[in-house]
Amino acid sequence: MTRNPTSTLPLPPDAPDASRHPFAEAVEAWYGRHGRRLPWRDTADPYHIWISEIILQQTRVAQGYDYYVRFVRRFPDVFALAAASEDEVLAAWQGLGYYSRARNLHAAARSIAAAGAFPTTYEGVRALRGVGPYTAAAICSFAYGLPHAVVDGNVYRVLARHFGLSTPIDSTAGRHEFAALAEALLDRKAPALYNQALMDFGALQCTPQNPNCTACPLNGSCVARQRGSVEALPVREKRTAVRDRYFVYLYLLRPDGSLLLRRRPAGDIWQGLYEPLLLEFSSAPSETDVMGHAAWATLGPVSSVAQVVRGRLHVLTHQRLHMDGYLVRLASDAALPGFVRVEAGARDAYAVPRLVELLFEAVDAYI
Ligand code: ADE
Repeated sequence: MTRNPTSTLPLPPDAPDASRHPFAEAVEAWYGRHGRRLPWRDTADPYHIWISEIILQQTRVAQGYDYYVRFVRRFPDVFALAAASEDEVLAAWQGLGYYSRARNLHAAARSIAAAGAFPTTYEGVRALRGVGPYTAAAICSFAYGLPHAVVDGNVYRVLARHFGLSTPIDSTAGRHEFAALAEALLDRKAPALYNQALMDFGALQCTPQNPNCTACPLNGSCVARQRGSVEALPVREKRTAVRDRYFVYLYLLRPDGSLLLRRRPAGDIWQGLYEPLLLEFSSAPSETDVMGHAAWATLGPVSSVAQVVRGRLHVLTHQRLHMDGYLVRLASDAALPGFVRVEAGARDAYAVPRLVELLFEAVDAYI
């Protein structure tokens, strides 16, 4: 269908529209020359696309790529994922961070398997645990060609700059304004192509720092470029508060070579992952603070203590973790309540946060 240029009648929102917005046309042409070939782009299987989108929610393509390949090899379809234990899924996720993604993925896989098939509507996909409007739009456009525009950090940045929008993207007004613009720009005949193109354009061309404006096909129509405000956009209203936490890990090694680990509880970061005994402080602890901690009294006789990590910084979205680590050789093989005994050599079977992996590396280098 072609649009009658003399008609004043608006088209119904879901009618096919032959006239792409010039913005969409330029971004798609750019994508044809510079877009990345990625494994989740060679498929229309909603399961594979879903896995890739959950991995890429908080992980860069360069890091997520290998995880994606390994994950879909290990769990080739939603039924395989549903049949796995949570520990197996967390182990496959180890190192990616934001582990609630893995737990939600697993819970959603079980509900999809119980229903018998992957949902095929936007509402059905959006109802899956861990799937918000962005991820639902990505899955539905890539797998089913449904006309939903993706709006993520890349899209906010590209639209704010190209159209010169300074409404804060984290305000209600900003969210509405950008969502409406994104829907208006969507290439409704090729939503998958358009969404992929816009994502790559944001990730590779219109980057947060040092965007490549000189070689940009949209530099003639970019409002921010004309006004010299490229680096100032998009605007955010609030700075998110960041909390400092001081973790001291005691790597409890028993005379028989086994190690004591426990599962992290709900209600904090890394729920369900394993870690050694953790002492937490609200400010940087001195050695006296560490050695005076009440937990030492629960360990029984200790034969030696050596510090193996000092002040290692690990940055999460809302927290800065400062980690000290001690290798503590226990003098007896007695059990500690709440801890599992991990045989020497069996440590890799337990999913641990990246920070704990760093502790393990330091202990291994020390021993
Ligand atoms: N980031 C989120 N989804 C993506 C995708 N499908 N391709 C590249 N980067 C992405």
